[in-house]
Amino acid sequence: PDSRLRHYSSCPLGARDDAQDARAYFTTPIFYVNAAPHIGHLYSALLADALCRYRRLRVPSAAATRFSTGTDEHGLKIQQAAATAGLAPAELCDQVSAQFQQLFREASISSTDFIRTTEARHRVAVQHFWGVLKARGLLYKGLYEGWYCASDECFLPEAKVTRQPGPSGDLCPVSLESGHPVSWTKEENYIFRLSQFREPLQRWLRGDPRAITPEPFHHAVLQWLEEELPDLSVSRRSSHLHWGIPVPGDDSQTIYVWLDALVNYLTVIGYPNAEFKSWWPTTSHIIGKDILKFHAIYWPALLLGAGMSPPHRIYVHSHWTVCGQKMSKSLGNVVDPRSCLDRYTVDGFRYFLLRQGVPHWDCDYYDEKVVKLLDSELADALGGLLNRCTAKRINPSGTYPAFCTTCFPSEPGLVGPSVRAQAEDYALVSAVATLPKQVADHYDNFQIYKALEAVSSCVRQTNGFVQRHAPWKLNWQSPVDAPWLGTVLHVALECLRVFGTLLQPVTPSLADKLLSRLGVSATERGLGELYFLPRFHGHPCPFEGRRLGSETGLLFPRLDQSRAWLLKAHRT
Ligand code: MSP
Repeated sequence: PDSRLRHYSSCPLGARDDAQDARAYFTTPIFYVNAAPHIGHLYSALLADALCRYRRLRVPSAAATRFSTGTDEHGLKIQQAAATAGLAPAELCDQVSAQFQQLFREASISSTDFIRTTEARHRVAVQHFWGVLKARGLLYKGLYEGWYCASDECFLPEAKVTRQPGPSGDLCPVSLESGHPVSWTKEENYIFRLSQFREPLQRWLRGDPRAITPEPFHHAVLQWLEEELPDLSVSRRSSHLHWGIPVPGDDSQTIYVWLDALVNYLTVIGYPNAEFKSWWPTTSHIIGKDILKFHAIYWPALLLGAGMSPPHRIYVHSHWTVCGQKMSKSLGNVVDPRSCLDRYTVDGFRYFLLRQGVPHWDCDYYDEKVVKLLDSELADALGGLLNRCTAKRINPSGTYPAFCTTCFPSEPGLVGPSVRAQAEDYALVSAVATLPKQVADHYDNFQIYKALEAVSSCVRQTNGFVQRHAPWKLNWQSPVDAPWLGTVLHVALECLRVFGTLLQPVTPSLADKLLSRLGVSATERGLGELYFLPRFHGHPCPFEGRRLGSETGLLFPRLDQSRAWLLKAHRT
């Protein structure tokens, strides 16, 4: 493990991030198929999707980015869920995996790979990985005795177990963290020498402070590593757990579902064939905080054990609650993501989850919040701004008007008869000019909500600019007004072009509609091409004088109006 770590920490991460030809591999967790998808699952996938789409805007080469998602289909949890549903496990897996695939298609998740752990290619990868650990002397047979939580698929020490009254009033042991029932297990298993990896893991995390983002999670993992790290049982008796991958050469044991599940990240990229090496370890795992220990301790330790490097980045997010409560099947408050996509549109709901979801703390979901946010930011502010600059009444020629440098000189504070720009207008230009860099930094720090907040704040500022100069009061026929009227529209359209470009990772169709309306072609939408207001800096602007794209109706119709309309329609 040590030599891998030395190699890993000597690699300049920043340089690797920025290299234009570097590959990047994004992953979502693979989802359990015991129940239908909910908004928390969609949120995990959306975060990964937005990061991946942002990366594609930065590095357009199609071959450079890979993005995988999938379903986690083995283990006791699925075996039990299938039994409860009266289905064969494979049937349950087919049904629910299809629901995830359909949801992700509908939500425009732009994954390049979908993996199911019941596929033959995955069994090959897991058994190979097992063989490597075995050959390196990292697996031994021993007696495991302790608590196991099937819902969380994890072993728990006594200190993490508490007692709660069960359905019959008796006290039942449950996991302190998740509240899920636990049961006592005592059996002979294969055990992984996890304890050997405490120091290598500490060295990895100390040497790469950005390995786990946001920082509080990095800190939490280092904190866990302060304590002793016990060895990990990595198989179960097949008589107890038959729904899984058998231990190679020992059919009486089934491989622990977390080892099975984690290896999915390698299966996708072709492991054990050498091709996987071009994607590993340039990997970014996007995960929820509940599965941090598995990804930040077990997985890197298993990788180091197999002679590989830990993943490049682990991005951690928190959870969605619903009206202040944990989302759960038993509480009956699970929010169905597909009905949300129907109600709020795909782009609307994507925007909501990514704008409101804050990775380092839990967020609460309720419908009014969605309506309020989307109406104010997408319908009124952004849609209104587009409408104000493109409506026939204000922009009768339907073009990107010319920018007049004497009305808006590049140097602030100049006075003259034709100078119309004011101090706030310079503030706007400077805010929008720096927006792409700010957004880049927020994406780097896994703060997509902050990137959206920054865009939204610039949209507000641009509306203020238009409001201040009230182009509807200016007259195209007047030689005094016309150059300034054109300039006001030109600046606002340039701002909109920047917003549309930067919103592509989060609201792909809405951004497409916006950019198409502005007449921005498909090859002019990358971050490399994003040069804001070149005329202000004395450079030609390729959009000046160009015809706008065709009228496509409201950018984002208000939700509460459509609801009022629906209610009315219902009453009559
Ligand atoms: N199968 C494991 C992951 C294996 S990865 C090698 C698993 N599956 S899960 O279906 O339970 O969760 C998948 C993802 O959904 C996790 O990132 C989890 O954090 C996320 N969410 C589950 N409930 C959530 C919320 N209420 N809110 C936000 N995300 C949540 O764990």
